[in-house]
Amino acid sequence: MKCRFSGKDIPKIIDFGEMPLGNGFLSEKISDEYFFNMSVAVNFDIGLIQLIDQPDPKKMFHQDYAFFTRTSNFMIKHFNEVADEIYSILDDRFINDKSKFVVEIGSNDGVMLENLVNKDINCLGIEPSKNVAKVSNRYGVKTLNDFFSLDISNEVLSNYQAANIIYAANVFCHIPDINDLAKACANLLKDGGLLLFEDPYLGDVLQKTSYDQIYDEHVYLFSCHSVQSIFGKYGLRLIDCKPLKTHGGSMRYYLVKDNKSSITENLKFQLDSEVSIGLLSLSTYEDFAQRCEFSKIEFKRIIEEYKYQNMKVVGYGATSKSTTILNYCDVGPELIDFIVDTTPIKQGKLTPGKHIPVKDYSNFLPHPDISVLFAWNHKKEIMDKEIDYKGKWITHLYDDLKK
Ligand code: SAH
Ligand code: TYD
Repeated sequence: MKCRFSGKDIPKIIDFGEMPLGNGFLSEKISDEYFFNMSVAVNFDIGLIQLIDQPDPKKMFHQDYAFFTRTSNFMIKHFNEVADEIYSILDDRFINDKSKFVVEIGSNDGVMLENLVNKDINCLGIEPSKNVAKVSNRYGVKTLNDFFSLDISNEVLSNYQAANIIYAANVFCHIPDINDLAKACANLLKDGGLLLFEDPYLGDVLQKTSYDQIYDEHVYLFSCHSVQSIFGKYGLRLIDCKPLKTHGGSMRYYLVKDNKSSITENLKFQLDSEVSIGLLSLSTYEDFAQRCEFSKIEFKRIIEEYKYQNMKVVGYGATSKSTTILNYCDVGPELIDFIVDTTPIKQGKLTPGKHIPVKDYSNFLPHPDISVLFAWNHKKEIMDKEIDYKGKWITHLYDDLKK
């Protein structure tokens, strides 16, 4: 397998088998549901996991895209804080620039940019999924309905201007042509401009065995080492990083288009710790693959045991990540009656591949005996809300299954 960044041969570590689209919820069973082979390879020289094959992005990001950032209050708060940080960077770093401009890639329903619009900052969202882009327009966020690429960066330069800051959350890991993406960011930024992006962090996925972060949309899992190599090649220098609690453990990367800013102690520490936790060793990924295999068997086994005891088992949060768990572990409606979810577009539908009904949140009453917390990354928010639930929560995560 070739590394998409370097073209080097890299080893395959896990074959998850035939997989539908993570967000491919169905209105009814269909005979031609789309499946692809989901396998991952690792470029352990730079700490980068990648999907070997990925469906065409147009199949995943379109007018019926199922993920809306505004479904989580925690994420709304998170993006308010991001906007505050961007605002203060604009003030500190670009104080004398009279034409400040911020671009967000994968701006979804506009939750982050809305805050900057309200502070009179000139900004633009770039978002290919029409339905979520429409919501952002309702909040006054100007949005270009397209996939970001080098061509689109030139279009933005022609129709708008160069950016002081480019921000992106949970989207760079979706974009297959990583070299084109890095070139596009370097092209669109002003000299001295900043690129801030955050994505699920490879170190957390390995540590928690959260293999459900691997699905059709997530073509990469990055580390500081891989970000430094990939973007450094195009003149964007990684100078800082910030570990985040979002999405079960993410990393925000800070990159500059200049040669003078020095790298922070934080980043030096993180780069060292990536070496010490084995992110640059093949054996770390082989161990990870074995833990995934354990989860695959044990997760199904314990649910079968609960069903055997006549317990009612339901899922909580029809996440795209749960598509990987359910299809990899071979768990369907015979084991999980339904999944509750607060997203209207998912309700009344069937989960991709396994066809478990998704129901609206009111169905969480009467309380089931067992709840599979598929939205485990929102645990705090959900536990605060479900204080009266006296049943048992379970997850597919290795440490929970080992308990
Ligand atoms: N930033 C939001 C949304 C993440 S979901 C958040 O963190 O909650 C990923 C988003 O990226 C989707 O809305 C998807 O439509 C968009 N996306 C996918 N490929 C893209 C591309 N090439 N350019 C811009 N956006 C893209
Ligand atoms: P999330 O884990 O953010 O993303 P992904 O789909 O990328 O894996 O998805 C959270 C899902 O859980 C989303 O469909 C909304 C749902 N949800 C609830 O049903 N209740 C809640 O309290 C929260 C926080 C989320």
